[in-house]
Amino acid sequence: MLNEKVSSLLNDQINKEMYSAYLYLDFANYYKNKGLDGYANWYEIQAKEEMDHAMLFMKYLQNNDYEVTLEAIAKPDKVLNDFGDALHASLEHERYVTSLIYRIYEAASEAKDYRTMQFLDWFIDEQGEEEKNATDMITKYELFGKDPKSLYMLDNEYKSRTYSAPSLTLD
Ligand code: FEO
Repeated sequence: MLNEKVSSLLNDQINKEMYSAYLYLDFANYYKNKGLDGYANWYEIQAKEEMDHAMLFMKYLQNNDYEVTLEAIAKPDKVLNDFGDALHASLEHERYVTSLIYRIYEAASEAKDYRTMQFLDWFIDEQGEEEKNATDMITKYELFGKDPKSLYMLDNEYKSRTYSAPSLTLD
């Protein structure tokens, strides 16, 4: 049986991951409207990954006999005035998500809940990757984004991103 605080934080994380998906769909819509289909594609795929994360938290709780409660998903409210804004907002958001995962890990550690700590290891690695991706996108945009031809090529590069299911699976 899961510790009360740990299970409540895990349940909250379902909502945070669904919000992440919403946020990235909002960014995808922004880029689509601006004619940057590659960036839109990148964020659509990112949104799918976030929904996968939400499902993993939900399944983990189900597998541990916890009654999941789904809450309302907040409206994405980032103001995007420039092509670079969503990229900076993504990095800031991923850093926030990392802090949430760490908070659950700390609660699990305090509760000597080794199973949950092991489950969260995958998310800790994933957050490292997501922060790196967000940082790389900012770097590339700052290097090439102001020149229309280079931005066109960069956008084409993001068109090639394809979805793949998470390496962690739960029955
Ligand atoms: Fe599910 Fe982008 O963290």
